[in-house]
Amino acid sequence: MAIRLGDEAPDFVADTTEGPIQFHAWKAGQWAVLFSHPKDFTPVCTTELGSLSALRPEFDRRGVKVIGLSVDPLESHQRWTADIRDVTGNTVNFPLIADPDRTISRLYDMIHPNASETVTVRSVFVIGPDNKVKLTLTYPASTGRNFQELLRVVDSLQLTANHGVATPADWQDGDDVIVVPAISDNEARTRFPKGFVAKKPYLRVTPQPNR
Ligand code: BEZ
Repeated sequence: MAIRLGDEAPDFVADTTEGPIQFHAWKAGQWAVLFSHPKDFTPVCTTELGSLSALRPEFDRRGVKVIGLSVDPLESHQRWTADIRDVTGNTVNFPLIADPDRTISRLYDMIHPNASETVTVRSVFVIGPDNKVKLTLTYPASTGRNFQELLRVVDSLQLTANHGVATPADWQDGDDVIVVPAISDNEARTRFPKGFVAKKPYLRVTPQPNR
């Protein structure tokens, strides 16, 4: 079944390159990124896992755990990591789930049969400390993901979860943010001591509050 924003991220047990896990226990109340890739020993996936490994300190800094999945077996994941290191210079530094019987892929609707009957698409789930799904992305096998964009989205999710703000198009950490329409002008004056500018009655911008 499709997983939608606000749904609880289903729990599961899995074999990973870092040992067996129970997902919710592994996540331990932190933010997490669960992503799938179609297949080991394929070119785009090799570049993706190298890029994501290079960015792991940035995910750590935000308190976000990272875990990958494909339908290949554990032994394949383990052999492939040597290639990823050779090609990208990065050692895979997060667990990779082996899902050969496709139990977890189906649970998270990561197999889109009209794209491929057998392998997962490039799914991303950002899951909050409350285990609720905060963001989903789906890319086809032919398009590698931009993991800097994933960090940008995490910054927005973490900011907007804790303040009465939303982030505009192309926002980057440090840019001005939008006061959500549910907050009145009076309340906004109290909540945002640096003030706000009303470009329209419904579009009020204020400096990023946590800086
Ligand atoms: C790739 O990672 O390059 C890839 C994987 C599956 C299908 C097509 C491309």
